[in-house]
Amino acid sequence: MSFSMHTHNCGELRRDNIGEEVTLTGWVWHRRDHGGLIFVDLRDREGMTQISFDPENSGGVAFHTAETIRSEWPIKVTGVVRERPEGMANPKHRTGEIEVLVSDIEVLNTSKTPPFQIEDHDDTSEDVRLRYRYLDLRRPQVMANMKMRSDFTFAIRQALHDRDFMEVETPALFKSTPEGARDFLVPSRTQPGHFYALPQSPQLLKQLLMVGGVERYYQVAKCFRDEDLRADRQPEFTQVDIEMSFVDQDDVMGALEAVLADAFAQVGVKMELPLRRISYWDAMDTYGTDKPDTRYGMELHDVSSIFVGSKFKLFANAANTEGVFIKALNAKGAGAWPRAQIDKLANVAATFGAKGLAWIAFRPDDSINSPIVKFFSDDEMEALRAEMSVEPGDLVMFAVEGRLKADEILGGMRVHMANALDLPREGHDFLWVVDFPLVHWDEDRKAYVAEHQPFTQPVEADIDKLESDPLSVGSYTYDFVMDGYEAGGGGMRVHNAELQMRILKLLGFTEERAKEQFGFLLEALKFGAPPMGGFALGLDRVCMLLAGADSIREVMAFPKTSSGSDLMSAAPSEVTTAQLKEVSLRLL
Ligand code: AMO
Repeated sequence: MSFSMHTHNCGELRRDNIGEEVTLTGWVWHRRDHGGLIFVDLRDREGMTQISFDPENSGGVAFHTAETIRSEWPIKVTGVVRERPEGMANPKHRTGEIEVLVSDIEVLNTSKTPPFQIEDHDDTSEDVRLRYRYLDLRRPQVMANMKMRSDFTFAIRQALHDRDFMEVETPALFKSTPEGARDFLVPSRTQPGHFYALPQSPQLLKQLLMVGGVERYYQVAKCFRDEDLRADRQPEFTQVDIEMSFVDQDDVMGALEAVLADAFAQVGVKMELPLRRISYWDAMDTYGTDKPDTRYGMELHDVSSIFVGSKFKLFANAANTEGVFIKALNAKGAGAWPRAQIDKLANVAATFGAKGLAWIAFRPDDSINSPIVKFFSDDEMEALRAEMSVEPGDLVMFAVEGRLKADEILGGMRVHMANALDLPREGHDFLWVVDFPLVHWDEDRKAYVAEHQPFTQPVEADIDKLESDPLSVGSYTYDFVMDGYEAGGGGMRVHNAELQMRILKLLGFTEERAKEQFGFLLEALKFGAPPMGGFALGLDRVCMLLAGADSIREVMAFPKTSSGSDLMSAAPSEVTTAQLKEVSLRLL
């Protein structure tokens, strides 16, 4: 594309352009004075071109201006493309074989000295980067992340559009849509004491679109959740939200796989179809998580049966108690760690809910170090070695707990050890986790909580157990797991009003409250709601993984800090009493 201000961008010129007169615009990146010659790296979002100033050229006017320019000034230059002198080519840049000898320069603006250098490998604190995010965006890696995100978003829109999905926008000012987080509330001015809630996802709205006959919907949708933030969680984030009607679960998953494979291919990532499917319980039992990274093994083993007659009371009691398990994990390589380093693992395990951590270090010299093996018989050791494929240099650790708790502890340790041992994880790992239970018991709230969300379709054969044995009720649900992250999730929906009410009651709603909050949905379901199901892809998380970044903040233009602040604008901020009065609020 050519514009009136420049003929080429800064990443574009090659040997073929030698001899052409060109005009470039960009920011002064690096300036080098070389006894009578000035070299400048001119940078824009596409790359960098070396421009040179020679006092002999064009009467030296451009040269004199070049002596005054400083980092991050935007300039416009015109000159002729020439080959760099012998030995001066820079293969690190696509434009590294040429330079532009400048005959004319226009300074478009000056700049204050930036608070940090616009370089990729700069250890400036994230707070400073976010305070000046517009400067941070100029760093080539951050800009490359933005470009990749744009390409992937475009590709997935294209893939959906090609399959007759219709993009429909839904309101951001709406009613509470529960996805398990707290709502952000917006006070109404015109109706004092009344509030909108920003949607945690367009879940209810897309179901209503299905009732409305849209049939295949998608939206690149902003979602808002007031929850504790982490590297992969922001208070506002983006989903590629999808819903289909007159379909069953395999139809939906098949369509999603095709769309995802198309979109990933557009950014150079091959996704083998059909995707592997692992059931929720298999994932928990084998990897200790419902979002396993299967690029490395380190699987969990149930070793309870080995210790039924053990002299080690803790293990023997567990092995003989219904519902309690001894699970083990073998971290190969960690058996060589010094004792002090192994002891610290108990603190790590505590963060996953463990009361302690039993372990056996099989030293590389074939000796054994462990606080517990003195209680084990030879047979027990033998059986354990066989079950865990023990070799010298291995560290076997145990969790003794109820099924899910033991899984969670060792699942957490599995990820921790993979990182600590720097296990290679090449390429991307895609899979579906399917067949989640409909609900789980939340000990803190003393209530059943929807495993996915309250609108999920239970397995038909289990519906009569909804009230009598809710934990055994299966559901039509699927999570899309990428590289050990929950990158998306979805399921089939209840399209029957009575069944929906039964589920809401199971989740602790009175009929009255359910009608108050979801009356509009319950009513819509009575008007011929079709069978439906869908999915939402966490766009930020997928882009983070594609960029190889360790936080979704790296792929969001203006992310918030972990305390939910925007450091650039200082939001959230106080408002005037007049503003509060307008929405009938007074601060406590
Ligand atoms: P769910 O709550 O699983 O499902 O969200 C879908 C995906 O969105 C991403 N995600 C987040 N990303 C960044 N920050 C957050 N705070 C955050 N929360 C979630 C995750 C997640 O997999 N309505 C259902 C979807 C459906 O059933 O169709 C929903 O929102 O990658």
